[in-house]
Amino acid sequence: MTKKDKPPGVKLRPMALSDIDAVLRIERISFSTPWPPDAFFYELARPRRSICRVAEYHEAELEPEVVGDIVVWLAGSTAHVATLAVHPNHRRRGIASCLLANALLACKDRGMKLALLEVRAQNNKAQLLYQKFGFKRVGIREGYYQDTGEDAVLMALKPLKRDKLAEFANCG
Ligand SMILES: CC(C)(COP(=O)(O)OP(=O)(O)OC[C@H]1O[C@@H](n2cnc3c(N)ncnc32)[C@H](O)[C@@H]1OP(=O)(O)O)[C@@H](O)C(=O)NCCC(=O)NCCS
Repeated sequence: MTKKDKPPGVKLRPMALSDIDAVLRIERISFSTPWPPDAFFYELARPRRSICRVAEYHEAELEPEVVGDIVVWLAGSTAHVATLAVHPNHRRRGIASCLLANALLACKDRGMKLALLEVRAQNNKAQLLYQKFGFKRVGIREGYYQDTGEDAVLMALKPLKRDKLAEFANCG
């Protein structure tokens, strides 16, 4: 794993209620069954149980634009990556890597020992991203996605290594 160049103009920060409209736009363009607004209100109302971050793109003179989001659930010593998406105009610039690394470092700080996630069996791009972090395929959930009946691949990362994650957590 090599250190990623910092995506220019991108900063990460905790998600706020005022971000939800922008986050919903990204989720709707990214997923066939996006989360409803209530799901984000719910997550933001329980900061001890979930980590919610956004990536903001700053371009001179313009208002900052939310271009990516992540939500990770905390349960016992397990971090569960619940959603991660980047606006199509800003993909392949390392933004998802920054969001994931930043959120998993926060999970590590909060005592999480293991990270889990489900990803669509045909979502090769996302699986490549997770593999870069060291996630391994540990199971299949057959017919997990109700819209298409597609299987989910269950992926796990253990342990959460601070130095490895820090290689990707290079956004401002
Ligand atoms: C998957 C997703 C979050 C990746 O976001 P991103 O900001 O483009 O990802 P990064 O730039 O950090 O890419 C990290 C790695 O992921 C893999 N990857 C990402 N997009 C890829 C693509 N189009 N083709 C091949 N590999 C890809 C690569 O290994 C890449 O590393 P590299 O650029 O050094 O080759 C984004 O494509 C997305 O929002 N997709 C729709 C929603 C989704 O599938 N979310 C994941 C649900 S489990």
